[in-house]
Formats: sequence, structure tokens, C-alpha cells
Amino acid sequence: PRGATRDDDGVLTIGGVRVTDLAAQYGTPLFVYDEDDFRSRCADMQAAFGPYGRVHYASKAFLSAEIARWVAAEGLSLDVCSAGELAVAVHAGFPAERIALHGNNKSVSELAAALDAGIGHIVVDSIYEIDRLDELAGERGVVADVLVRVTPGVEAHTHEFISTAHDDQKFGFAITEAAGARDRSHYATAMDAVRRVFAADNLRLVGLHSHIGSQIFDLDGFEVAAHRVIGLLGDIVDEFGVEKTAQLEVVDLGGGLGISYLPDDDPLPTAEVAERLAEIVANESAALGLPTPLLAVEPGRAIAGPGGVTLYEVGTLKDVALDGGSTRRYVSVDGGMSDNIRAVLYDAEYDVRLASRVSDADGVLSRVVGKHCESGDIVVRDCWLHDDLTPGDLLVVGATGAYCYSMSSRYNLAQRPAVVAVRAGQSRLLLRRERIEDYLSLEAGVEATSE
Ligand code: LLP
Repeated sequence: PRGATRDDDGVLTIGGVRVTDLAAQYGTPLFVYDEDDFRSRCADMQAAFGPYGRVHYASKAFLSAEIARWVAAEGLSLDVCSAGELAVAVHAGFPAERIALHGNNKSVSELAAALDAGIGHIVVDSIYEIDRLDELAGERGVVADVLVRVTPGVEAHTHEFISTAHDDQKFGFAITEAAGARDRSHYATAMDAVRRVFAADNLRLVGLHSHIGSQIFDLDGFEVAAHRVIGLLGDIVDEFGVEKTAQLEVVDLGGGLGISYLPDDDPLPTAEVAERLAEIVANESAALGLPTPLLAVEPGRAIAGPGGVTLYEVGTLKDVALDGGSTRRYVSVDGGMSDNIRAVLYDAEYDVRLASRVSDADGVLSRVVGKHCESGDIVVRDCWLHDDLTPGDLLVVGATGAYCYSMSSRYNLAQRPAVVAVRAGQSRLLLRRERIEDYLSLEAGVEATSE
């Protein structure tokens, strides 16, 4: 986090609060969000993209009511992709007209909840959904604004991107028509979806959407996506004319801006991304005779990731012999794959440090592991931790603000950690730690036995 330093005793402080005090007050494992960091990243995104359009915070990265309030206060919009995320946003009083709903299989009740809440728009992802939404909007006597999600044939991850004619994945409608696929009963192109929405009485097409991947350090993939989405606008102009196409006022290029997990990671400069993409959108839409659409983006990780950390307490230490005579130290902490599945799922790498004190002891090749019942339960695969590490020390794992709590589980009936925010020397609870009683309360079949 931007607000992390060491105090005179060598204790890590975040937002002016010592991690030892946080651990004593809230217990561990603990997610800690530096409020100034989170909000300043919202503000930076807004400063970069705001002049050209809109920034939606992708709430899947991490959402709580307080987070929704920060996002609202910084002037951003919000993406949700489930009834749960929508409910938290509504609970927080997030302005409904600034909420967008995503998903490839939104349920009827999710679509209905979105319409009833009066959210800004819904990103439609299948022909079934277009028909369902039209019907639900009709029943309510409203006209729903929609974006059509398209697959621009770009797959981007970190330093590389692949450009193809088609995406072989579940989201969106392909921009390019595939020879031979037409006779399939569930085949539809982006143009088919556009025609369907235009023909629907209770839907209004307000734009196009694409999302090419996540943790991206390479601008080229976004540029290719922008060219192809505007190319589709050109096809729409050809079929429906400039005047009708001009109602598509939004080009949303999704999320995906990468962050620094390790010191060598090199995130894209947000302002340059914004300028470059805005230039493509403006020039190419002008060439079609269209007014410049708003450029929307949906960063999740780039806003929530860097300012969140996880605090763990060291429980046990074990040196294990490796082939060749060296050893590796297994440092077990009080959480693991239930609060951070990303190392296991994506081979994600994290920076881990001793947080409760400083040490000048030598580094030892170590692996930080959790407390779950499988050997793959690894938080940090390879790291150098001080030789004098001891049970009770606190470790901090950096940049866990995105996709850690939100992807957490109750594996082994672990209790989800508490989440706190820190700012100006004060801490406050955002989400309390789960209790065993929370899941006992789900038990339907067996009455509690006393004694
Ligand atoms: N918009 C859409 C439509 C998305 O599907 C996503 C992420 C985002 C925006 C936000 O992307 P971001 O800016 O955070 O990269 N669980 C994975 C990441 C999956 C992202 C899925 N969609 C992880 O932990 O790395």
C-alpha cells in the first residue's frame, strides 16, 4: 500500500496503524485495506478516463458496503455480476443509475432485481437473455438500457496477447461471422444480437462491451480490441445508418489493467492507456461519421489490489530436506488457500515480509503454506525469510486486495477472516470474522444437542 512504513521499533504500519495492534485487536488472518490507497487509485483512474467517459469499479475484485461508498464518493460507477454484489451495492446506497450488471447466465431473478433497482444498464450476453430481459422490462413497463458484449478475438494476459478471428469461450458474441457455424441452432454473432436488441420493444441499445483478460501489461491487446469494436460500429452504420448507430453512446473496453505483485512487475501507465484508447475511439468513430462515444473501462484489480494486504501469524516451522542436500523451510500460517486461492489456481506470486519486527538474520529459502488439508495449500511458493523467524511473528503478504477475499472459501470449515480499513492512524472493521456459529446456523437437519 502507498501508506506502508516501519515505525521506530521496526513494526510495519499501514495508514498509520501498527500491524501488531491490528492483529491484537482483530486477530489473524486479517485483510487490511489502506483507505487512502484505494481511494487514490479510484481518483487516478477517474482523472485518466473521466475526461473521455466513465470508470466502473469491478466489484468482483472485492466489495463491501464501505468499499461501495468509497467508490461512489470518488465519482466512479460500479459493475456487479450477481444478485449478491447488487444487493451489497444497493444496501450501501450506491446510486443505482451508476450500476451495471454483467454475467453470461444471469438468472431471471437477477435480471428482475436489476430492473427493479433501476440500475444504469445491463450487459447482455446471449440471445436468450435479450429475449428474457425484453419480456421482464415489458412486464414492468420500462425500457432497459443494454450493452451487447462482444468477443473481439483478443486474449490478453500479462505480457502477451493473442489475436484470432474467434474466442473459444463462454462470454459474448463473436464479431466476425464463422463460416459453417450458421446452421447451428444456438449460434449468433454480435450483429445478430444488435438486430435482436434493436427489434425488442423494451430494450434500448446504448453501446458495445468487450473484456479481453486480466493482469495485462501490454497495451496492444486493448488497442486491437478497440479497433475491432469500432469496426463493428461500422457494420452497424452500414446496416442501420449513422443516425440510429449514434444511439450507441458507450464503447466499454472492460477491465484488465495489471498491477505489481512483485518488485519487477511493470504496470501500464493509466493516463497513457486512457489517451491512446480514447484517440482510437475518437478517430475511428469520426471516420464513420459518428459522434465520439464515451470510453468506459472496468478496472477491479488495479483499484483494489495494491492497497490490500493479508496479515498472518506464523504457527509452525519445519525444515525439509531436498534432493541434493539443501533444505527448504515450510512456514505455516493461520490461513491459506481458503483466504488466498490464487497461488494454487493461477500460480500467482506474492511478496511476503516479516511485519511485526525487523531482523538482520540471514535469509532462508522458505515456502509459506496454509493450514489446510492438502499439500498444494501454498500462499508463497518460494521466498527468502529470516532465519530467526519464530512462531508468533506476523507476516504480511502484499497486494492481496483483489480476488482474495472475494474468492475465499470455507474449506475445512475455516472461518473467513475479518476485513479492516486503516486511515490516518485509525482502523475500523468492514467485515467481521466469520464464526463457527455462522455455518452451524446453515444446518437444517439436525437440532443442536446440548451437552
Ligand atoms: N469486467 C469484466 C467483464 C470482467 O470479467 C472482469 C474480470 C473485470 C471487468 C475486471 O478485471 P480486472 O480489472 O480486475 O482485471 N479471479 C482472477 C481474475 C478474474 C477476472 C475476471 N473478470 C484473478 O484472481 O486473477
